[in-house]
Amino acid sequence: MNEQLESDLLGQVAEAADLLQLEAVRVAALGKQGRVTALLKSLGAMSPEQRLNEGPRIQALRHSVTNALGLRRAALEAAELDRRLATERLDLTLPADEPPTGSIHPVSQVMDELAEIFADLGFAVAEGPEIEDDWHNFTALNIPETHPARAMHDTFYVESRPRDDEGGRLLLRTHTSPVQIRALTTHGAPLRVIAPGRTYRSDSDATHTPMFHQVEGLVVDRGIHMGHLKWTLEAFVRAFFERDDVVLRLRPSYFPFTEPSAEVDVGFTWNHGRREIGGAEPDGWMEILGSGMVHPAVLRNAGLDPDEWSGFAFGCGIDRLAMLKYGMTDLRAFFDGNLSWLRHHGFGALQVPTLSGGLSR
Ligand code: DAH
Repeated sequence: MNEQLESDLLGQVAEAADLLQLEAVRVAALGKQGRVTALLKSLGAMSPEQRLNEGPRIQALRHSVTNALGLRRAALEAAELDRRLATERLDLTLPADEPPTGSIHPVSQVMDELAEIFADLGFAVAEGPEIEDDWHNFTALNIPETHPARAMHDTFYVESRPRDDEGGRLLLRTHTSPVQIRALTTHGAPLRVIAPGRTYRSDSDATHTPMFHQVEGLVVDRGIHMGHLKWTLEAFVRAFFERDDVVLRLRPSYFPFTEPSAEVDVGFTWNHGRREIGGAEPDGWMEILGSGMVHPAVLRNAGLDPDEWSGFAFGCGIDRLAMLKYGMTDLRAFFDGNLSWLRHHGFGALQVPTLSGGLSR
């Protein structure tokens, strides 16, 4: 009878197709209610002679079934491992996932391009504070308290404790022109600088944001004249727009800190319904910056003698330059932090512009 049971159980063990079935076989044989367990329990009720006879046979049965279970388990586990190794194989030759990388904002890109282009023309980069005082932002630039130009700049004033220096009220600078005063009083003349940075005015629509960017240019030396201004601006726009046929038009204008003053337009041509900067015979003009010869009062306010020194200056909206060069239409999109916009319009860290080679995209 034990022989029959043994071949039954060994047969079941051999037929168990997976670890779950094998466990069921184990429980049916060796579990609390198992058939082998029942035989072991029956030993207690036997006479000593019977037990002497049956004991070793039942133990041998238990041993044989346990052994078979162990071997079968090892075989099933090995098969399972083989299956997983076959299906879960990693292909190390596949390209790795790209780590997420940020992109350079078009405004930062254009500021880098400006610094690069003007560095080649011998300009250093100057900086000034975004929270400026009345003196640097207005008064020193020949815009006195009563001057109507102050009303043109919708100024954000900063609540501040009374200050004991001469600067007057604090405000968010309305243009980068105060850096002219700061650079001249710090470094004196001769001087050749650009000053890119954030500027603020209380104004908001598709072409105006309360925060925007300007770049200021300033050259002060002996014998500087309007011809230097025009040549410099031409060299700049040709390098920036990467075309030799960009034409400039200087229109007489008025700024309190320059005399004479000129607004500068770039020529554009129509190309398949799109305005394209450049073209020897422009179809139209777009204003890009204000400029002029530094007003003698400004030189004096910066501690220089206007009989000895003269200079030119210009101020230009950076965001607008970026829009013209890279074809964005809504200025507000620059500053609302939309990731897909940034991915589309952003630049890689290695897309570095050069004066001679243009932009390596
Ligand atoms: N600061 C002027 C503005 O924000 C721009 C400007 C005009 C700057 C003429 C200059 C300049 O340096 O010479 O509108």
